[in-house]
Amino acid sequence: MEQHKVPHVVILPLPLSGHVKPMLILAELLCDAGFLITFVNSDYNHDRLERVMDIPAFYNRSPGFRFVSISDGLPLDQPRLGPIIFQLFFNTRTVSKPLFRELLISLRQSTERSPPTCIIADGLMCFAIDVAEELGVPIITFPTHGYHGMWTIMHTSNLIEEGEVPFQEESDMDKPITSIPGMESLLRRRDLPGNCRLEVENPLMEFIISEASAMKRASTLILNTFEELEAPIIAHLGSFFDKVYTIGPLHALLKTRIKDSSQAVSSYGSLRKEDSSCVEWLNSQPLKSVIYVSFGSVVELSLDQLIELWHGLVNSRKPFLWVVRPDLVEGNEELGQISEELEQGTKEKGCMVSWAPQEEVLAHPSVGGFLTHSGWNSTLESIFEGVPMICWPQVADQQVNGRSVSKLWRVGFDMKDTCDRFIIEKIVRDLMEDKREEIIRSTNEIARMARGSVKENGSSHCNLERLIEDLRLMSLTN
Ligand code: UDX
Repeated sequence: MEQHKVPHVVILPLPLSGHVKPMLILAELLCDAGFLITFVNSDYNHDRLERVMDIPAFYNRSPGFRFVSISDGLPLDQPRLGPIIFQLFFNTRTVSKPLFRELLISLRQSTERSPPTCIIADGLMCFAIDVAEELGVPIITFPTHGYHGMWTIMHTSNLIEEGEVPFQEESDMDKPITSIPGMESLLRRRDLPGNCRLEVENPLMEFIISEASAMKRASTLILNTFEELEAPIIAHLGSFFDKVYTIGPLHALLKTRIKDSSQAVSSYGSLRKEDSSCVEWLNSQPLKSVIYVSFGSVVELSLDQLIELWHGLVNSRKPFLWVVRPDLVEGNEELGQISEELEQGTKEKGCMVSWAPQEEVLAHPSVGGFLTHSGWNSTLESIFEGVPMICWPQVADQQVNGRSVSKLWRVGFDMKDTCDRFIIEKIVRDLMEDKREEIIRSTNEIARMARGSVKENGSSHCNLERLIEDLRLMSLTN
């Protein structure tokens, strides 16, 4: 057997930071196993990465790792937020696909590094499967959502065939959804991904349906989750994929496997500069007293939502740390004059930053709750730290995640489809005080399982070992 052949993995994330970060962590873990890595960024994201990290210094530490970049078809000065993201999705097929094909051919011809032995591509970048099949390179798909979110997205066409989708927002939003195997008693209309509220003919629906169907052509799947969390329905995946590797929470697995993870490239994966001053503020707050508030990297709030949320936080009288990104408000609408009540309440109880070191914040002893948009990375990070959540999901898989958090795992409350300062005030008090008992036991129990999964002999730890071994074997037969 050719023992000397080094696996060379080409990693292709969807070019949005919530997808780039888990892919970077995986890339780092594989590089640590001695693999060659080619990480394919969009030009836009690569430019942002260069602004926050010293890439040449990183190459010195990790000589097997290389970044390359291709266009995502949008102008470089266009923020990747809100509805423009749909255009980015469509561009993947027309712009990114031919560029990725060219890139792969050039990597195969290169004399500097051995040719690629496997591609790992995001579940929404399925054009890579066409390219991989054409060029004869094995491919693994890695949808970076949680399993429940991904399973729901995979069933979009069934939902349409069964007449459960589409529906109008004014309809009975609590009507149960019955045509997703394994989730019959979980979801209501309002818990389906945001695109299910669109007309079937909408190009976004077409994109989701065809990506979901193409994904099944890659016989192997990686998921950023852990078996103990989603086991009862992971079994359903066997009918679609030959092999499934659940290796999450990836951010925690990285910390257990790589000694100095503060030097890790993935710590820059959110592609923004962190403001660590909030950690000093947290140091001055009582144990488990603070509610942390953040909406990830792409969600925009309307001005109305922002104002209601702000009043709700101030009126709850709980200390709050709120990430207010400069691009958080839809259309960059101006806030105008702030009321005395908000100004005073924030001075007394609040801390606002434009981007926080979120993993560190969630691990801080003063943090007792997380009001989140329920992006999958945020959900997993909160679960791991045993911080119960208030879910205010806005788009995509976030609606499903919010439902799983509140109804299935019982590690938080879900306030989707509301926008009211009194509801927010009450739900913050419920989470931090009045109804904390209802969820704290399951929150601690699931955090314990999450920690166990990334320890040596834990499920995700072992699954990563299996993945590394299989990628090695793949490189020998390729
Ligand atoms: C997107 C989608 O919105 C989400 O639905 C999907 O599941 C993943 O891709 P995003 O909106 O950015 O992601 O949310 P999320 O998945 O929660 O990722 C945000 C990441 O940014 C987290 O890893 C979090 O730690 C980090 N973050 C967020 C910071 O480091 N600092 C902050 O201030 C806020």
